[in-house]
Formats: sequence, structure tokens, C-alpha cells
Amino acid sequence: MGLKQIELTVNDFSHPFLVESDETLLFTLRNRLYLTGTKEGCNQGTCGSCTVLLDGKPVLSCMTPTLRCVEKKVITIEGISSGENLHPVQKYLVKNGGLQCGFCTPGVVMTAVPFLEENPDASRREIKEGLSGNLCRCTGYKKIIDALENAAAEMRS
Ligand code: FES
Ligand code: FES
Repeated sequence: MGLKQIELTVNDFSHPFLVESDETLLFTLRNRLYLTGTKEGCNQGTCGSCTVLLDGKPVLSCMTPTLRCVEKKVITIEGISSGENLHPVQKYLVKNGGLQCGFCTPGVVMTAVPFLEENPDASRREIKEGLSGNLCRCTGYKKIIDALENAAAEMRS
């Protein structure tokens, strides 16, 4: 326990601040950096809504100690597109109606972007499997998977 001074690189900016030695990356992002796009759902590692990228790989920020992220690169939903230009995954989630309340959407995006970058030819079944850790209470998933198939096609071209 106790506060520690650290520097964390989030969305390509370096931030110095004090953190509790046992706090999670989710807490740090939302409560110290005010990056509230990353959502707190279950806080137990089961819903996927808190997903961010750590050195390019998706991690559940509610299960990731902040101190483990020092000298690594964190990307949150706020860092996935530039200005008005949405990432194809975001664009097709909107176009295909792949979101309703939007609570799960940041986590879906942060899981889908690296998945489709690594698996540009993923089948519908593989996309479903890749997203199986992201729970959505609203959409019934079909429109999310439709959106990700369309995003994959655009990312390939
Ligand atoms: S809030 Fe992290 S998995 Fe649900
Ligand atoms: S859009 Fe509401 S939880 Fe997914």
C-alpha cells in the first residue's frame, strides 16, 4: 500500500502522477486521467467493457495493476482514431447499428481492432470467437459481427 510516483504513457502522451501501489489501470485511467471512455462493468474480469491495449495487446484494465504498465504503451478508446476520422471498426459499428446504449462499445472496439489487424481474413465464426469475451446486453451480437465483417473487408482493401 502507499502512493508511488510513476510515469505512464497513454495514447502517446506521458503522464507523471501518484498512484496507489495496488490500484488498477481501469481506476487510474478513469479517476486520475479522466479517460472515461474505458467503461467499468463487472470489475471482475468477465464483461470485457474495460478492454484497452497494452503494448498493442488487449488487456482487461480492471484486472491489470497500473504499476505493471510503467514503461509500456497504453492505448484507450480515446486514442484509437484521429480527429473526425473513425477507425473502420467504429465506422461500421455505427453504420450497421452495432450499438444501442454503447456501454460495451469501447471494449468491443479495443478487442476488435487488434484482432482484425492480426486476422484480416477471419471468418464470421472466428470473429465471433475473437469477441466472445465482450458481453453486450442490447444488440444480440448479430449487428456487431456484421459490422466487424464489413470493417475487416475495408481494412483488407
Ligand atoms: S469491467 Fe473489466 S472485465 Fe468487466
Ligand atoms: S450496446 Fe448496450 S451493452 Fe452493448
